[in-house]
Amino acid sequence: MIALASDHAGYDYKERIKPLLDELKVPYKDFGTTSRDSTDYPDWAHAAATSVSNGECDRGILICGTGIGMSITANKHKGVRAAVCESVTAARLARQHNNANVLTIGERITCWESAVDIIKTFLFTPFEGGRHGRRVEKIHTLTSL
Ligand code: RB5
Repeated sequence: MIALASDHAGYDYKERIKPLLDELKVPYKDFGTTSRDSTDYPDWAHAAATSVSNGECDRGILICGTGIGMSITANKHKGVRAAVCESVTAARLARQHNNANVLTIGERITCWESAVDIIKTFLFTPFEGGRHGRRVEKIHTLTSL
């Protein structure tokens, strides 16, 4: 189950992602927002990231103007590894090396065609594990910094 969320600046992409996920037969839950009316991205990022953190959703796709606010907010949640990706290469490596479980995209940054490729790459690229597994574990275990 994919947690989907956006603020107003990412609303159009969020609405376009739903039929894309339907086509790919990937189930999702929409955590809002529900219109282009101005709103605060942390509200939606927190709701979706909570569902990834507590296991209700396996992964998340969050859209705002830049992808940055969504990423910063989502990464406050235990167990969440959110990556803002502006390229297919970044999305592939975020999965292979970082086991990213949340993808964030900036609707004001990334064209729709690229966003589709980035989303497909995020959804279907497996984590490589091995040495990357050790490193990802350290993200969540080293809390003394
Ligand atoms: C909203 O104007 C914009 O600041 C927001 O969508 C996002 O880009 C923040 O990181």
